[in-house]
Amino acid sequence: MTTLVDQYRELKKRGEKITALTAYDYPTARLLDESGIDIILVGDSLGMVVLGYEDTTQVTLEEMLHHTRAAARGVKNALLVGDMPIHTFDSPDAAVATARKFIEAGAQAVKLEGGVGHVAHIEAITGEGIPFMGHIGMLPQQVREQGGYKVKGKTPSEAEALIVEARAIEKAGAFSVVLEIVVPEIAKQITNAIAIPTIGIGSGENCDGQILVTHDLIGLFPWFTPKFVSPEAEVATEIRKATRAFIERTRGAAALSK
Ligand code: KIV
Repeated sequence: MTTLVDQYRELKKRGEKITALTAYDYPTARLLDESGIDIILVGDSLGMVVLGYEDTTQVTLEEMLHHTRAAARGVKNALLVGDMPIHTFDSPDAAVATARKFIEAGAQAVKLEGGVGHVAHIEAITGEGIPFMGHIGMLPQQVREQGGYKVKGKTPSEAEALIVEARAIEKAGAFSVVLEIVVPEIAKQITNAIAIPTIGIGSGENCDGQILVTHDLIGLFPWFTPKFVSPEAEVATEIRKATRAFIERTRGAAALSK
């Protein structure tokens, strides 16, 4: 029987680029799915672009499961990945318990932020037969410790550490690994060093696939757009336009009927 790991290795071998976007609700997940996206991530970016938190460190497991259930109802073809929030994988046992909850909520795979320090946690998850996606580079759950959303892999030691992390995640049984804001040349080296696909975000064109926060791609979070994103739509502008039109129409109608 071919596993997800086998399938993703095969995609990489064939040079087929993997596409991934985030969704946190039924209509968005359904629209992305109907548009042919490969992977839908219920990311803990939920905390920032939907729940209005300052960063992802306040997101709870209950919030993630609630949104995973909603997204799952809209997905027929894409691979739905649930993002394990901070402090829900503090031990290998906790990691497995959390991963199982995501699967019960309708996810087909899980992701957690971390590398070498989380090998036992990842092995525990994959050992249960739960497909796993890694995430290294800039780790938003560590944004406070890391002093902001800074590019990773700038120094030779940081670059070498990232390659070691990617290899460790591959060995622990992951089917892919997200590289977040990694120097493009280092992302290329990591991509060449492992047999599972790298999915880049702000890490250049030489990854095996790309992922974005959908709100950034469609211009639905106009108060902040990461530098590396080229939005394909201006949904926030459309919402403002429609809201103003509705207000005018309603106030106009009320005034006329008096
Ligand atoms: O939470 C998220 O949306 C993510 C992606 C940015 C990779 O982890």
